[in-house]
Amino acid sequence: MSTQSQDIRSEVLQILQCFQLSEDKLKDISDALEKEFVRGLGKDTQEAASVKMLPTFIVDTPDGTEKGDFLALDVGGTNLRVHHVHVDKELTTESEEEKIPEEKMTGRGDDLFDFIVDKISAFIDSQKLKDQVLPLGFTFSFPCQQKAIDKSILIRWTKGFSCSGVDGKDVVQLLKEAVDRKQGFKMGPVSVVNDTAATLMSCIYRNKKCDIGLIVGTGTNACFMEDMRNVQCVDCEDGQMCINTEWGAFGEEGSLKDVQTDFDIEVDKKSNNPGVHIFEKMISGLYLGEIVRVVLVKLTEDELLFGGQISDKFRPSVLRVLKTPSQFKTEFISEIEEQDKGPENTVEILNKLGLDFSRDLGRDWVEENVKIIRWVCKTISTRAAHLCAAAVTTIAMRIYANRIYANRGEKSTADRNITVGVDGTVYKKHPNFKKELEAMVQQLAPELHITFQDSEDGSGTGAALTAAVVQRLQNKKAE
Ligand code: GLC
Repeated sequence: MSTQSQDIRSEVLQILQCFQLSEDKLKDISDALEKEFVRGLGKDTQEAASVKMLPTFIVDTPDGTEKGDFLALDVGGTNLRVHHVHVDKELTTESEEEKIPEEKMTGRGDDLFDFIVDKISAFIDSQKLKDQVLPLGFTFSFPCQQKAIDKSILIRWTKGFSCSGVDGKDVVQLLKEAVDRKQGFKMGPVSVVNDTAATLMSCIYRNKKCDIGLIVGTGTNACFMEDMRNVQCVDCEDGQMCINTEWGAFGEEGSLKDVQTDFDIEVDKKSNNPGVHIFEKMISGLYLGEIVRVVLVKLTEDELLFGGQISDKFRPSVLRVLKTPSQFKTEFISEIEEQDKGPENTVEILNKLGLDFSRDLGRDWVEENVKIIRWVCKTISTRAAHLCAAAVTTIAMRIYANRIYANRGEKSTADRNITVGVDGTVYKKHPNFKKELEAMVQQLAPELHITFQDSEDGSGTGAALTAAVVQRLQNKKAE
């Protein structure tokens, strides 16, 4: 390796240093998050808490006796999904999905709900379900103050959505109004859930045991069953309730100030909701590509990337491409980090972006640049996995403490087992995220045995299962 490339490498590593989080730092983050959890659960502190710890009104989980036909609707990411789920000893599901057009995500709320209802109507027609009035499980994956299982007030949009006229409104009511406007079908009773809760429900149904529902996709969030005695904003002391943490908002109270890099600050500033959901912006799919992009811009401007023999004519055009927001997709990170094909994929991606540098650079420099770009990706995805690990550990420790409390202070080996059901593209598609997450969780909580389980379409089936549990409880009450 030439001295020049050695110097470049060490300068790059120095710039990337700000993304490294030591084990002690991660433990501090976990402690700060636990404090926010307590504030979120407190009656008088929830209002000011960044992590809202939202009650979901899910007080029971599937026990395998649920039966019937249900509709499930999943709104919360790029795609809108509708399912017909038949619940018996086994689940059978028919589904359709459609991309939500950008203008519906950012236009008028009524237009979004009309779009959703049109899709459900078409699905009901194609499934020949028009004569039935089926209970609907509605996965709505945004922070909502839930008042009852069928009443959920949107606190704020996240993940690039910003429809007008929905903040502060009950989304079930808005759905009902759209159904009335469109007159396409009769809507049954609605159970509204967050995607984390739906994931938890579907994992419990499939595997009997699951303690935490985790999403690491376009956004990130987790839920778990909390002892009611700790949920101060609901008047009940007995049993448990699923709590949607909305941990994506962590950091708004300032705990992440020394972890947030200048790159994070830039990504946050340019997002459509600056200043909020700070933790999510360091972990989830909507933002990881953007962080990588702004780091690549810095490296190029500092002539550490696309430099060397390259002509000065090339660099401005590289910067023009790289400075275009959202150019660098999070999925590129996964492709670039692939163990075997990673270097080849990197060149292909750069070519696709119009940065065909192999023409302008010598072979050695191409290799050097590829190596640096792969480092950047690995640094950003590893930090995301480690932050996620700190947060998973916080919940796992809470669950363990609740179990010890229930056992009157006694610790049992079985109580140390915590299962996490996970969904989301970052977790599922990234080649190393899972491994990094698992390894760090183990390091941060060696006394616990935390295992991760992939969820299969948790959002859809989980919503249907929630509706099924609600129906089972209602039938039981009526008996
Ligand atoms: C965002 C939403 C949250 C959701 C998560 C994962 O953080 O606010 O409700 O669970 O994304 O989709």
